[in-house]
Amino acid sequence: MSATPSAAESGQFKIGGDLTVNRLGFGAMRITGEGIWGPPTDREEALRVLRRLPELGVDFIDTADSYGPFVSEDLIAEALAPYDDIVVATKGALTRHGPGIWQPVGRPEYLRQCVLMSLRRLKLEQIPLWQLHRIDAKVPRDEQFGVIADMLKEGLIRHAGLSQVSVEEIQAARKVFPVATVQNLYNLIDRSSETVLDYCQAEGIGFIPWFPLASGNLAKPGTALDAIVRKQEATPSQVALAWVLKRSPVMLPIPGTSKVAHLEDNVRAAELTLSDEDFRALDSQAKAEA
Ligand SMILES: NC(=O)c1ccc[n+]([C@@H]2O[C@H](COP(=O)([O-])OP(=O)(O)OC[C@H]3O[C@@H](n4cnc5c(N)ncnc54)[C@H](OP(=O)(O)O)[C@@H]3O)[C@@H](O)[C@H]2O)c1
Repeated sequence: MSATPSAAESGQFKIGGDLTVNRLGFGAMRITGEGIWGPPTDREEALRVLRRLPELGVDFIDTADSYGPFVSEDLIAEALAPYDDIVVATKGALTRHGPGIWQPVGRPEYLRQCVLMSLRRLKLEQIPLWQLHRIDAKVPRDEQFGVIADMLKEGLIRHAGLSQVSVEEIQAARKVFPVATVQNLYNLIDRSSETVLDYCQAEGIGFIPWFPLASGNLAKPGTALDAIVRKQEATPSQVALAWVLKRSPVMLPIPGTSKVAHLEDNVRAAELTLSDEDFRALDSQAKAEA
């Protein structure tokens, strides 16, 4: 493996057909305090993590106004604005009432405020990709989709996406605005969004799996994962991430960390090449132990 790994090894994807990023990105949720609330324990290390991203070829950052809240967006701007070639994607619609507490609010006037305030915090004139963090069940969904369509037309956001949605919800949204990305929980051991991923692949929609590093208990001695970890001289998380990347060309994983050493470990996963046989063996093991 090279001394300085590069996310470019993961290949590229064009978000919304025109915004090229290296597929292996960075999730900026972990540069906040316990329960994703307040400042990080080690602020200087969080800033070092962010400044290391361009050196490692990571040009796609996922954040949200609710991370901290505001802490993640503020740190990203402090470390990286005016960004050069880095695409900062953010999300809105979740309000915070304390550590670990997230409440959706999807009223159009609130969603518009989310975008306007993210623009201000991130020091941007246009958000390259803005995602509806959750559809609010208390507000007609077409009202939520409608204000996104308006903000796209007005140029406040360049592309828009959804998070934690079903195929039916994506189809409903696409009647109102072009859905560029979908961000759902997905990893080697949690495949509950498999049909959503298949739909995104067929439609050319970027699929952003969150919690992509999980490998659960699969690395026990004598298992397929254990054998591949030894063969590749890698960690279970790196192999799990390489598996996720190989699963689909529309896959844009955003592993998150508060530590530079962990960031470098994660980017190294872009250099792992899994054979088709190893890919299938991991798939079978994960399904058998699900
Ligand atoms: N749309 C949504 O609803 C939603 C929900 C959750 C997350 N997200 C997004 O998805 C991103 C990733 O999700 P996630 O943070 O839950 O999962 P993840 O990136 O798979 O895992 C992050 C956890 O793993 C640890 N970690 C990372 N790299 C490591 C390494 N090399 N060695 C050991 N430990 C390591 C981190 O702790 P350390 O800080 O100690 O490294 C952290 O506890 C988030 O940052 C966020 O942008 C979106």
